[in-house]
Amino acid sequence: MNQPSTPYQILGEDGIRQLTSAFYDLMDELPEVAELRALHARDLAPMKTKLAEYLIGWMGGPPLYAQKYGGVCMTEPHAPYAIGPALRDQWLFCMERALERTGASEELREMLKVPLFRIADAIRNRDKDPGDNPDLIASV
Ligand code: HEM
Repeated sequence: MNQPSTPYQILGEDGIRQLTSAFYDLMDELPEVAELRALHARDLAPMKTKLAEYLIGWMGGPPLYAQKYGGVCMTEPHAPYAIGPALRDQWLFCMERALERTGASEELREMLKVPLFRIADAIRNRDKDPGDNPDLIASV
């Protein structure tokens, strides 16, 4: 009856901030996502705040990011980066590992699986990653 129905109800604002912090710590640590890490600024602290505020709204809480920046469309902020399936999967890998590191329940991970894939895939703006084909490197 009073089952939590949104990830925000399960995690709360603090939980989402912890998840986001773990996400960028893992981006820094995991050699598998070096390419993704290299796209980001040296200091990840501002991104910890931005992504946390974004996810708090996206997960069903108050729209903190939209209130600050005026919108939630993620296509434009990502337009300067060539994002293909490999980078999308690196992003999702960090998020899966962050959920694991912060002790997320199986229920929550299931709840987030498809929506996270959809939003990450919507941000993808290339069919291939530059590294997939040496001919593409010159054109990106
Ligand atoms: C699909 C793979 C993705 C890649 C490769 C990627 C990469 C990036 C990069 C390089 C930045 C700029 C970081 C900096 O300035 O240091 C950024 C910003 C951002 N990303 Fe992503 N991202 C991805 C997916 C996502 C997803 C799925 C979300 C949301 C659920 C997201 C939310 C954000 C936000 C909120 C910002 C800050 C935008 C602003 O400046 O206000 N990103 N991303």
